[in-house]
Amino acid sequence: MSWVAVALSRTLGRRPLRVMHGGTPVVLFRDGPAIRALPDRCPHRMAPLSAGKVTGGLITCPYHGWQFDGTGRCRAIPGQIGALPVVQMTALQATERDGIIFVAPPGTTAQPFTHAVSGAPPVLRLVESRTRGTVLDVAENILDATHTHYTHRGILRGLSAKRYTVRVDITGGPDWVEARYTGEDRQHGLVSALLDDDRSVSVGRFRAPGIAELEFWGKGGLKLSTTFHLRPDGPDHTGGIGILAGPRDGGLGHLKAALFLPFFRIALAQDRRILRLCAENAQPGQKPVIGPLDILRQDIALILSGQPPRAATTPRSLHMLL
Ligand code: FES
Ligand SMILES: [Fe+2]
Repeated sequence: MSWVAVALSRTLGRRPLRVMHGGTPVVLFRDGPAIRALPDRCPHRMAPLSAGKVTGGLITCPYHGWQFDGTGRCRAIPGQIGALPVVQMTALQATERDGIIFVAPPGTTAQPFTHAVSGAPPVLRLVESRTRGTVLDVAENILDATHTHYTHRGILRGLSAKRYTVRVDITGGPDWVEARYTGEDRQHGLVSALLDDDRSVSVGRFRAPGIAELEFWGKGGLKLSTTFHLRPDGPDHTGGIGILAGPRDGGLGHLKAALFLPFFRIALAQDRRILRLCAENAQPGQKPVIGPLDILRQDIALILSGQPPRAATTPRSLHMLL
């Protein structure tokens, strides 16, 4: 497993923070400029270290007060006279990028991916959300164009009932799949009116370990991208960190971001609601019907299970009305 976005930097202050990483709880804490990541389970009696305190780069367990440094080594056992036994937890790697905290297993050498906007420094806005449903359900929802007419009527679409024929090209690589939509005229929703007046191509992409990206390209280049870092968070929830990125455009980028963010939050709430309704309503074990326009779900599932998507060997194209 590589780097996983687990929290926004601003949510980690003086107190330790518990996050989920690869299905297990991890405690984050600050140690000067560094961020430390340890299993959130004291090796003594398994108390959550995140319920303890941090002082001078050491985290103190709330149960008997054992203290651990950022490498996972026990540095104090209150009441103990004489030498300390060696107690060593396996620390994880942690780092901050663009206001996001990433965690990786020890020995990970690659750098974390944050978002794909390159060139001039982009305008970034960060959001955090927690959604009922699996990473597969949430990733598919983010990348699915066909729900926007209904779930986001008026916000992303639906001021007009008119649909347009769109060509979709689906390609992939060893651990990613993307759908490229061409020929779509301007979407008739409020947000589209705000941002996308010359949009010509949009792209939805999923990449390992759990990154869903949407890109909106206009004639002058990339206009807006949203990158969601997803991870399992508890048995039936998915944690997500979203990055909205756009070109600076003089000062206009900031203005657009300020205008766009409230709509983005509304759309997120609409998605959270419908995904919760689906999850609560599903019968355990019932298989969903894969419709002809559910173009990415199976490939996302393959990537999540560590296999290459079918699109990596068999790219395909289709048309649909959006
Ligand atoms: S459980 Fe942590 S010190 Fe005892
Ligand atoms: Fe949505």
